[in-house]
Amino acid sequence: MVAPRITVNGTETPISPASPHTTVLDLLRERGLTGTKEGCAEGECGACSVLVARPGVTKPTDWVAVNACLVPAAALDGQEIITSEGLATASGPGTPPVLHPVQEEMAVRGGSQCGYCTPGFVCSMAAEYYRPDRCAHPTSEADSTDVTDVDAEHGPNGFDLHALSGNLCRCTGYRPIRDAAFAVGAPTDTDPLAQRREQAPPAPVATSYAQDDSVFLRKSTLDETLRLLRERPDAVVVAGSTDWGVEVNIRSRRADCVVAVDRLPELRELRVADDSVEIGAALTLTEIEGRLDGHVPLLAELFPQFASRLIRNGATLGGNLGTGSPIGDSPPVLLALEASVVLADADGEREVPLADYFTGYRQSVRRPGELIRAVRVPLPLSPVTAFHKIAKRRFDDISSVAVAFALDIEGGIVRKARIGLGGVAATPIRALSTEAALEGRSWAAETVETAALLLQAEGTPMNDHRASAAYRSAMLGQSLLKLYAQTTEAVSS
Ligand code: FES
Ligand code: FES
Repeated sequence: MVAPRITVNGTETPISPASPHTTVLDLLRERGLTGTKEGCAEGECGACSVLVARPGVTKPTDWVAVNACLVPAAALDGQEIITSEGLATASGPGTPPVLHPVQEEMAVRGGSQCGYCTPGFVCSMAAEYYRPDRCAHPTSEADSTDVTDVDAEHGPNGFDLHALSGNLCRCTGYRPIRDAAFAVGAPTDTDPLAQRREQAPPAPVATSYAQDDSVFLRKSTLDETLRLLRERPDAVVVAGSTDWGVEVNIRSRRADCVVAVDRLPELRELRVADDSVEIGAALTLTEIEGRLDGHVPLLAELFPQFASRLIRNGATLGGNLGTGSPIGDSPPVLLALEASVVLADADGEREVPLADYFTGYRQSVRRPGELIRAVRVPLPLSPVTAFHKIAKRRFDDISSVAVAFALDIEGGIVRKARIGLGGVAATPIRALSTEAALEGRSWAAETVETAALLLQAEGTPMNDHRASAAYRSAMLGQSLLKLYAQTTEAVSS
């Protein structure tokens, strides 16, 4: 087995002697690439953003921006990344470094003052710059004064500002950054990173990297991984590492054995059958969003509200369910969709309804050695759906409370109601009393007002620094009233 290494800006960089817990961010900075910054070390500021070559949707490779502070360097063994330094020098070997177009626009439009956030911004911006279907007008010379004619979150050059939802700036103000984003044109034919998209990304490699009494392991197949987990049921299983990375950085947790599952082909399939949609547990949320393309509207409503683009580029449904957090954003939605979890171990598979999956605070029926292989969403879908996330910020925030609705309403009567709640109990829960109060009744103000009072009383919300229990309860009731207000016209027409 080749010694673990990462190709950074075109140069192979060995990971040794770093610890298996060393993050990509720390590795880069230890090797002198200090453009990549640490702001929060927990995935909230984007100062550490770098580009990773990943399998593309319309081209062999997409440049995907991720938080380098969360990803163990060993997890990128054999992979290829670009940092802000690599962007500046990527215009051609042997030529003096010149600014990349996104760096140039940030500079001339005043998008950088202290500059601490800038390398992270330019990496996130570069990922969007290279998105193959972004730019409808390759010669766009859009000016910021034109943006009132365009969707506030999409520039005339096709730039989607959600690409920057995980990047914070404390001094510049976002308007000049937006100006820069909306001003970039299309990559030229000779742009090396644009050309790089035409070749496949590096294939995943099996990794066994031991150092300092701990080991990072990646197997090539699901069977090998399940046998390994039988031998090492104590192992920490990681995919995008968006949760484990926080544990390592902020809570100083360490594990004797970390097992990566994010590149396992068996966990990266998405199958649409007549009776279900099966989503591989290790597909990133960005990949699921792209592949489903709105075919599960409730998931399509969830994704833009889930953390940030940087996090969604690494986070997986398997991880969100595996951690068992009561405030994860996907469980309320998946509960409303009546999803089930496909669990696999070395002896085979079993399918557990998500409603029976959580057993306590961060606990589930998943046994040691068992892995979430997929999430199955039954079809047909209920036609009336909504996801309401109540949080202090619109993007990149943790919910105070989250509510997902999936209703069948026929002839003005609620035939079926499924409501998933997060943030109101030790686990994500179904709002069973409210569902019962709605089913069989007319979708009318009187029914909804009665049910909203019941919904307010579901769960046992807590007082904490995000919200009071009373506020959380009130938001539950308001959520149903809001859904009614939004749907009344559609249902009666
Ligand atoms: Fe803040 Fe990585 S350092 S997201
Ligand atoms: Fe100072 Fe953004 S320019 S934090």
